[in-house]
Amino acid sequence: MKLPRKFFEPLALGAPMPLRELPVRLERMIHFVPPHNEKVRSKVGDLIGKVDIILGNLEDAVPFDAKEAAREGFISMAQAHDYGATGLWSRVNALNSPWILDDVMRLVEAIGEKLDVIMLPKVEGAWDIHYLDQLLAQLEARHKISKPILIHAILETADGVNNVEAIASASPRMHGMSLGPADLAASRAMKTTRVGGGHPEYKVLADAGSSSQRAAYQQDLWHYTIAKMVDACAANGIKAFYGPFGDFSDPLACEVQFRNAYLMGCAGAWTLHPSQIAIAGRVFSPDPAEVAFARKIVDAMPDGSGAVMIDGKMQDDATFKQAKVMVDLARQVAKGDVAMAAQYGFAD
Ligand code: GLV
Ligand code: MG
Repeated sequence: MKLPRKFFEPLALGAPMPLRELPVRLERMIHFVPPHNEKVRSKVGDLIGKVDIILGNLEDAVPFDAKEAAREGFISMAQAHDYGATGLWSRVNALNSPWILDDVMRLVEAIGEKLDVIMLPKVEGAWDIHYLDQLLAQLEARHKISKPILIHAILETADGVNNVEAIASASPRMHGMSLGPADLAASRAMKTTRVGGGHPEYKVLADAGSSSQRAAYQQDLWHYTIAKMVDACAANGIKAFYGPFGDFSDPLACEVQFRNAYLMGCAGAWTLHPSQIAIAGRVFSPDPAEVAFARKIVDAMPDGSGAVMIDGKMQDDATFKQAKVMVDLARQVAKGDVAMAAQYGFAD
């Protein structure tokens, strides 16, 4: 393991200094755009300001014969707009593919100053992050990029889940991680063809009793992995995300999957379809009633210590910290959203 002092040194002469803290940004939805599709690309300007992150996808879902077109399409859509407070990310191809080297070399050369985060798929261990980290530092130095491009790993292989803590702490360039339920299901030989969400056959059955009707309760297939990912991320000061929800015809199930991830500590989710943008925005912005209660706790404990009763519920130093998580997130949401600011009572 690298010594702590060296951990924060640039990996190439002339590369920018690694960040010690992540930039504070609202990242409720990572909205996927297929950049080889000219029609979709032409509408990207309308998305800026309406989603927290726009991601140009170069990996799965892009046909082999459109890989170059997707890469160049992403570069042109990046150059065509000022993204303001909206994050600009790209999901590049996997490290064992024939496209990744040109993906990274072209993106840093053409739009290195604008690109916030590279999402790296199928990460198996810290060695994958170390490779991209070194390559990015060399390219940033060559092209005189002023701020480091961050790395976001997709957790979608059994090896990756085994090594999740090492991945989270592999580099100061780590932004966070997303659960990739489709590839992970395949890697683990899970017997499902769904992209995220539950499965009607993954359940527990009530005991056999006098009644012939035995209740069955569906369980969450992703609970273990999300919990493991959230702990690895939180312990390393980076962010955890739920990934794709593939059934666009079931917005309710999508909302429930997103909300489970939100409640467990995730900062956001992927939106693959425009209809999922509002769902993610709603789910990953704290509920105004909960924020009102959290504000009561914070106001009642100005220095965050002691014990007080609020509406019959005991509060102490720990619940003060829980309340701070909600209030701080609400303040971030309110900054970019006048209507939500009013609902949280921050408008004054
Ligand atoms: C996402 O990339 C997934 O495999 O679910
Ligand atoms: Mg995948």
